[in-house]
Amino acid sequence: MSAENTFRCVTCTAPVNIAVIKYWGKRDEKLILPTNSSLSVTLGQDELRAKTSVAVSKDYTQDRMWLNGKEQSVNTPRIQNVLKETRKRLSDSQNETELLQNVHIVSENNFPTAAGLASSAAGYACLVYSLSQLYGVKGEISDIARLLLSCRQGSGSACRSIYGGFVAWNMGELEDGSDSYAVQVAPEAHWPEMRTLILVVNDQKKDVGSTEGMQTTIETSDLMKHRVTIMDRRMEAMTEAIKKRDFPTFGKLTMQDSNQLHAVCLDTYPPIFYMTDVSRQVIRLVHAINDIYEEVKVAYTFDAGPNACLYLLEEDVPRVLSLVQHFFPPSQDKGEKFVTGLSVPEVPVCSK
Ligand code: DP6
Repeated sequence: MSAENTFRCVTCTAPVNIAVIKYWGKRDEKLILPTNSSLSVTLGQDELRAKTSVAVSKDYTQDRMWLNGKEQSVNTPRIQNVLKETRKRLSDSQNETELLQNVHIVSENNFPTAAGLASSAAGYACLVYSLSQLYGVKGEISDIARLLLSCRQGSGSACRSIYGGFVAWNMGELEDGSDSYAVQVAPEAHWPEMRTLILVVNDQKKDVGSTEGMQTTIETSDLMKHRVTIMDRRMEAMTEAIKKRDFPTFGKLTMQDSNQLHAVCLDTYPPIFYMTDVSRQVIRLVHAINDIYEEVKVAYTFDAGPNACLYLLEEDVPRVLSLVQHFFPPSQDKGEKFVTGLSVPEVPVCSK
């Protein structure tokens, strides 16, 4: 289509990623440079995904945005950064006229927003990818690297949603952040038996957002100082476990890293509590299952919220799922009394 057209629209979806080695803390707030590298698994986007349409028209008088049907201000620093950075990085695209036009953004998630299920990561990755398609990004690898940098402007962990499979966000060393972006450690086809169960403990918006929480942790937690010293080793061990498809090691490291993230949150002053009693019951159940099998068969991880993400292999899904449903029967009650899967609890790992 040519730039003379009055309206052009592109729709993309981006999957959620759930970290097994967590990002928590920035060494540079403005450039969104993390204090440690992190590693995540990108989930199947048929079940958990953000969907974003972006449109440009010479008739639009201002940039506007709707999230899950409600109009939101585009005048937040993050949206402004994403728009500015993406336009800047795509300035050599074919559609220079359209780069100057206003954009309308319509985004929806098919999972609870801001309940600690990485909604903003998928949302920002989707926005940046849609804009790149709309403006007709040229070339290959270097453009992807630039894309990753601009989607990180919205939410650090967003850069990991650009790839499928197992994805590391290397913290980088350079002050300008140009070596801090995501790389694929292994495609999903490398370990096709990997499965995820999402247990929604509570779908309410969290009290303390990740950005604010991690900032307070950096300022106040002594334990965090220790955490950053062990993260390179942990990243290496996790990468090795993934390459070897060694589930017991993958699972143990996943649980240890989640536990340390929440210990660091407790060591933050004032303390931050993301997990609830139900979250802790899920942890106990997972350890009880692993004790019975005398091997790590299932691993939990929790982000900045009470909801559990369980990693396990396909062959173990039926027995783990039946135990979870036995101890936490699905209920219509709202609040902490219920644990249930989202519409389809078993989520295969899959590409973007
Ligand atoms: C606990 O990417 O939401 O999910 O960069 O401040 O937007 P900002 O934070 P965000 O933090 C995610 C933290 C986490 C762990 C992870 O996904 O690695």
